[in-house]
Amino acid sequence: MKDLQELEAILAAHKGREGALLPILHDVQAAYGSVSEDAVRVIAKALNLTRAEVHGVVSFYHDFRDAPEPRPVLKLCRAESCQARGVEAMVAALSDHPRVAVETVYCLGLCSVGPAAMVGDTLHGRLDAARLGALVESLV
Ligand code: FES
Repeated sequence: MKDLQELEAILAAHKGREGALLPILHDVQAAYGSVSEDAVRVIAKALNLTRAEVHGVVSFYHDFRDAPEPRPVLKLCRAESCQARGVEAMVAALSDHPRVAVETVYCLGLCSVGPAAMVGDTLHGRLDAARLGALVESLV
């Protein structure tokens, strides 16, 4: 963990908030790129939870990582509309990509312009093999 100062600031920002665990975990993930064991220990202590309780939440949600992903993350929608428009072939083509981490998600809200993907906070629609290839190339 690069430093605890930012984590302490995140905890302070959510102090006294009901249901603070998930917002804290999202903020920690965004700040550090992961929720490390050190962070789990500090968060558990601050929220008066056990480390197992915090770890259980971290491990349940795919958005939280225990170590930073070094590769750019491309999230591909695998829900019904995108499936009907051929996303499965895209998922298969990118599985085991050495320089881009591909995650599948279920609906990005771009159903009418799918297949859809998200990189960071940016959404991409109307993907086909060529557009997806260009998107991947822009990431590496
Ligand atoms: S089904 Fe893919 S964006 Fe909704």
